[in-house]
Amino acid sequence: MKEKLKEILKNGLQKVEELVDLKALDEVRVKFLGKTGELTQILRGMKDVPAEERKEVGSIANNVRVKLEEAITNKLCELENAKLLADMEKEKVDITEPSKGTKKGALHPLTRFNNKFMQLCVEMGFTVIQTPEIETDYYNFEALNVPKNHPARDMQDSLYITDTILMRTHTSPAQVRAMETMKPPFKIVCPGRVYRNDNDSSHSPIFNQFEALVIDENIGLKDFMTMVKEMAVRLYGEDVKMRVRPSYFPFTEPSIEIDATCQMCKGKGCSLCKGTGFSEFFGGGIVNPVILEMSGIDSNKYSGFAFGPGIDRSVMVTNKIPNIKYLFRNDLRFLKQMK
Ligand code: DAH
Repeated sequence: MKEKLKEILKNGLQKVEELVDLKALDEVRVKFLGKTGELTQILRGMKDVPAEERKEVGSIANNVRVKLEEAITNKLCELENAKLLADMEKEKVDITEPSKGTKKGALHPLTRFNNKFMQLCVEMGFTVIQTPEIETDYYNFEALNVPKNHPARDMQDSLYITDTILMRTHTSPAQVRAMETMKPPFKIVCPGRVYRNDNDSSHSPIFNQFEALVIDENIGLKDFMTMVKEMAVRLYGEDVKMRVRPSYFPFTEPSIEIDATCQMCKGKGCSLCKGTGFSEFFGGGIVNPVILEMSGIDSNKYSGFAFGPGIDRSVMVTNKIPNIKYLFRNDLRFLKQMK
């Protein structure tokens, strides 16, 4: 029995020593110390050992068990440490490796133009306001002196949602909303998206405008022209030239169309400006007193001027964009060229 125990110890220690992985270690533990393991069998057979030897054999057997357990625990630590080191080696990050670089985004050309124009307006004392993109027929047309069946409604091919609600066709409803809620004198500008049933290389169903409105006492066309000239100079530089043509809008009287030096050819004449050297800057005029009265402003005391530039055309020209749709597609290949 003593011999058998010695052999188990020798065999067991040797097996543990030779092991290289955790699974095999567990198998060895089961083989010697498990419920049906070799040592366990012997301990179970102790009752057959003669009484005078039992104490000594028992103590040897116990010793063997302690030694084997100790060897297995040590091996377990050793194997686990080795695994941890191997894992760390695998996950090592080389902090000296050069970075792949970060990709820098850029503002959309419409946003850049919008920011520039808003900045300019704020510097000139305007308050920036926002009004709804989904408008009522009243604010979009009626309150701007465009009653139902008025031929001017044909100038703007509208996208109706119900009989009385539509996508705003221009930012001019901001005029009415401002006059109804603000106390004169005031200067407002409303940037935003507008919608029309229009679709070709220079027209998109969605495009962008500003609406600017100035209401004060004793102001007229001369003040309007001075302000517009100042805006054009700040936008396009000192040598910008302007010209004025008569026009018609139901909400202004008189109405004018203002052209500025074509930014594509800088006034030399090109296909865009049809050789004239000028391109359309915006339409506007002196606010029709009918509009003032409808919105609750005393037209004997106050007067005003308003104008509404579209910005997409300017952005297309300054960035040499051939089709307005590129501005709305969010195609990365296009946007990368616009940085
Ligand atoms: N709302 C007009 C349009 O979309 C532009 C416009 C013209 C705005 C004259 C004005 C204005 O404020 O006075 O065509």
